[in-house]
Order: sequence, then structure tokens, then C-alpha cells
Amino acid sequence: MDRLVEAALQARLRARAPFSGFLVGAALEEAGGRIFTGCNVESASYGLTICAERVAAFRAVADGARQFTRLAVAADTDTPTPPCGACRQVLWELCGDLEILLVNLKGGVESMRLSALFPRPFDAKFLD
Ligand code: THU
Repeated sequence: MDRLVEAALQARLRARAPFSGFLVGAALEEAGGRIFTGCNVESASYGLTICAERVAAFRAVADGARQFTRLAVAADTDTPTPPCGACRQVLWELCGDLEILLVNLKGGVESMRLSALFPRPFDAKFLD
């Protein structure tokens, strides 16, 4: 199995999701090969919950990574779970046009580019 997919599946098992019971794992690959993982971490406030994808992206940036190639997202759904709108925005700004692998627990893997999921982004170029 692709080590990025494996890392996302493993990260999913570390999710803290006592309110939704919906466990998500993410694994972000740096151009140099390092992998940064994330899981969703829920808050009793609900609104302060953070998704697996943003945990992985923020962790990578905090560790000095700046160039990224792929992101795998793992969840237990028949149709593989895509990143939410907030994560698409953050991923676009921090990671660029990633290849995204959506995986479920049945071995399903779907691949797409972030630009296909997020076709007309607002980003820094509008602030010039
Ligand atoms: N969640 C993620 O972590 N990533 C996604 O792509 C979709 C949603 C989390 C947020 C929340 O903890 C739970 O899944 C239910 O929305």
C-alpha cells in the first residue's frame, strides 16, 4: 500500500472525535518526502473542532515544510470523504495544487487535484 495512504489510515485511529464519532486521518507529503499526519480533534464547543487536513497542514508548516506534493484523507465512508470547504481554502494557500487521495476502509482510493475540488479560489493574488 502507498505509504501516504497507510499513514492517513493510521492517523485516523488517533482522531479525538467523541461528539461526532466520525474519525478522519490525513497525511501530507512534503516534496522532500517527509510525511506529516493529522487527525480531527473535536471540542465541546463544536465550533473549535479542527479537521484532520488542517492539523496535518499546520503541523507541516510548523515543522518548516513549504513544498508539498500529495495529501491522503482517510475516513470510514462508502463514498470517500473529501476535505471540507474551510480545509480546501487552507490547503490551497499553504500547499498549492496538491494531488489528493481519498481513501476509505474498504480499499477504495480516488485521486484528484485540489484545483478540481476548489476551482476558483480566493488567495493572496487578489490582495496585490
Ligand atoms: N472532518 C475532518 O476532519 N475532515 C473532513 O474532511 C471532514 C470532516 C471532521 C470534523 C469533525 O470532527 C467530524 O469530521 C465531523 O464533521
